[in-house]
Amino acid sequence: MKNILVTGGAGFIGSAFVRRMVKKYPDYNIIVLDKLTYAGNLDNLLEVDDEPNYRFEKGDIAHEETVQRVLKDFQIDAVVNFAAESHVDRSILNPHAFVHTDVVGVYILLETCRKLGINRFHHVSTDEVYGSIPEGYFKEGDPLEPNSPYAASKAGGELMLRAYQVTYGMHTTVTRGSNTFGPYQYPEKIAPFFITEAIDNRPLPLYGDGMQVRDWLHVDDHADGIDLILHQGAPGEIYNIGGENERHNIEITKLILETLGKPESLIKYVADRPGHDRRYALTNDKLRAHFGWHPATDFETAMRQTIQWYIDNEWWWRKIKTGEYLEYYKQQYEDRLAQAK
Ligand SMILES: NC(=O)c1ccc[n+]([C@@H]2O[C@H](COP(=O)([O-])OP(=O)(O)OC[C@H]3O[C@@H](n4cnc5c(N)ncnc54)[C@H](O)[C@@H]3O)[C@@H](O)[C@H]2O)c1
Repeated sequence: MKNILVTGGAGFIGSAFVRRMVKKYPDYNIIVLDKLTYAGNLDNLLEVDDEPNYRFEKGDIAHEETVQRVLKDFQIDAVVNFAAESHVDRSILNPHAFVHTDVVGVYILLETCRKLGINRFHHVSTDEVYGSIPEGYFKEGDPLEPNSPYAASKAGGELMLRAYQVTYGMHTTVTRGSNTFGPYQYPEKIAPFFITEAIDNRPLPLYGDGMQVRDWLHVDDHADGIDLILHQGAPGEIYNIGGENERHNIEITKLILETLGKPESLIKYVADRPGHDRRYALTNDKLRAHFGWHPATDFETAMRQTIQWYIDNEWWWRKIKTGEYLEYYKQQYEDRLAQAK
């Protein structure tokens, strides 16, 4: 493996993976293909900008000619696909973009790889494809019961990988990561959204009763798990990557406020997200059994460091929270906050 295409590498998790790979494997060439949607941000890649083994190409994974040109020009040996529309609330407002990228885009990538004889394809998926689980933990063989347009589109992309493995013998692998947090996360997701709002003493619109449970995985652990599976994952296999850290949303919210020294009166309970999954939880048993892998990060320490990162890096997020972001904020939260308890 020498030339690796990282699609969606300008986003939150993709950029963490790129920063890691460029430094850890100086003999690999890391090529990023990213459409630079509202969530894509070249600031996330400034750290590697001058590295000789890093290149950036702007383009859509659903555009066949672009994909073909990049795969050929850089003689790509392996693809790692992070590119996605990734926010559940936006998928409820506009599912079309999700089908375009998370289903059609994955198909175009796979098909172009097949035509060019590129055999190694890793796909970054999510615990959300399983749906909600009231108790216990999802394992890789469990049925997919996605509940949001986002989760359904991610499941569709995954199933296309399965077909390319079974039908064409492609060496595909899938990782299903859990709720990821860390630096450079677009401030629409709960952790960076609440951290940056609380810094400005603004209300935190918490959905429903705040008792939804998520499993929290640090972005460096997520990138580490993907690196491992890219190198050692068996063809056609799916691997959960869990943080082994279940928390209620209200706990996360209070931890953020406490760390920032802000009052709990900033919490506003607002109308829930339609179809909101109550609990996501998955087991790392397969990764542990095959590779002895487990998350290396201590949750509380990492969350506090993450909060500190947003305090120290206002240059990064203040310019994001303008323009389109404010339009989205208005659409998603203005009425909810006006009716908040
Ligand atoms: N954030 C999480 O908690 C989480 C958890 C598990 C899995 N995932 C998955 O990990 C991947 C990365 O998530 P993230 O949080 O970094 O997302 P993100 O929204 O921060 O980044 C997505 C990136 O993909 C790019 N992109 C979108 N559409 C594209 C297209 N058509 N062509 C090329 N590039 C395109 C965007 O510009 C952006 O850089 C996604 O596939 C997501 O489903 C995320």
